[in-house]
Amino acid sequence: MKKIAILTSGGDAPGMNAAIRAATRTAIRAGLEVFGVYQGYQGLIEGRIRPLGARDVGGIIQRGGTILGSARSEEFKTIDGQRKAIRSLNQFGIEGLIVIGGNGSQTGSEALSRLGLPVMGVASTIDNDLYGSEITIGVDTALNIALEAIDRLKITASSHQRAFFVEVMGRGCGYLALMTGLAGGAEAIVIPEVKTNPEELAQVMEEAYEKGKAHAIVIVAEGADYNAERLAAYFKEHRERLGFSIRVTTLGHVQRGGNPGAYDRILATRLGWNAATRMIDGEHGKLVGINKSEITATPLSEVVASKKELDLRLLELSQLLD
Ligand code: F6P
Repeated sequence: MKKIAILTSGGDAPGMNAAIRAATRTAIRAGLEVFGVYQGYQGLIEGRIRPLGARDVGGIIQRGGTILGSARSEEFKTIDGQRKAIRSLNQFGIEGLIVIGGNGSQTGSEALSRLGLPVMGVASTIDNDLYGSEITIGVDTALNIALEAIDRLKITASSHQRAFFVEVMGRGCGYLALMTGLAGGAEAIVIPEVKTNPEELAQVMEEAYEKGKAHAIVIVAEGADYNAERLAAYFKEHRERLGFSIRVTTLGHVQRGGNPGAYDRILATRLGWNAATRMIDGEHGKLVGINKSEITATPLSEVVASKKELDLRLLELSQLLD
């Protein structure tokens, strides 16, 4: 193998740049030519491919986002789009592709792999909903951003005896909400994996008020059956009963936009290096991730066919400690 390309796809995640840097420099050191694909799979279809040198990835390890850009491409979901993508790579003589991204991105890499392209995936999404890696690039930084916000919200909430519904990202998975709630000492956590009972939530808030708490923090995952706005609307008329007045804060993309912390830089560096090394050694069709502190490679076919389960015992733990 003489030429490989790297792309980032789906939601950006802090640490993607560190993975790009590690994969690029590992491949260059092994004598390969490296190319960057800009704007994810859409850019691949449109042939937005440029050489990446060792200096092009200098000074990026500490930067959030992705220097390659990202996109969500509907066209790539079609077989025609996927064939166009492979043609683009062929035009540059590129023989292998490293895809840094989450669920949707790895579904794409699995499709390319089935079409015969040597692909390695690198597990990266703030949602941490990707099978094949206990923790994915970006999660730790996103969690720390959410926690900083929670700590600040507690200060203002306590001053006014308020309950805050804080919405965090996580379209289909409650991992971020669960961990933010656990680490932030929230009174309640609302996640897609568990059906919401607003009356039970009301009880938790009432009890918090009766215990003499100055605030109540409820962490709500974006993808839960009741989002933060809906919960606030439900409790609008219940001021007397709850004790607290209600406010809503949606953290949204703020969580994705941070610079990576130490954990994400190190994880991304290890995974980027490992993906490139495996590809150079002839391995492909796999997702590189971390499991029990070891770097592992899981077949992409298994990754796309499996679901990562959330450890709901941690929800019980947070309830025990509220
Ligand atoms: O997949 C990561 C994620 O941040 C989800 O948590 C969120 O629902 C989604 O991306 C938002 O996507 P977009 O950036 O396209 O608005």
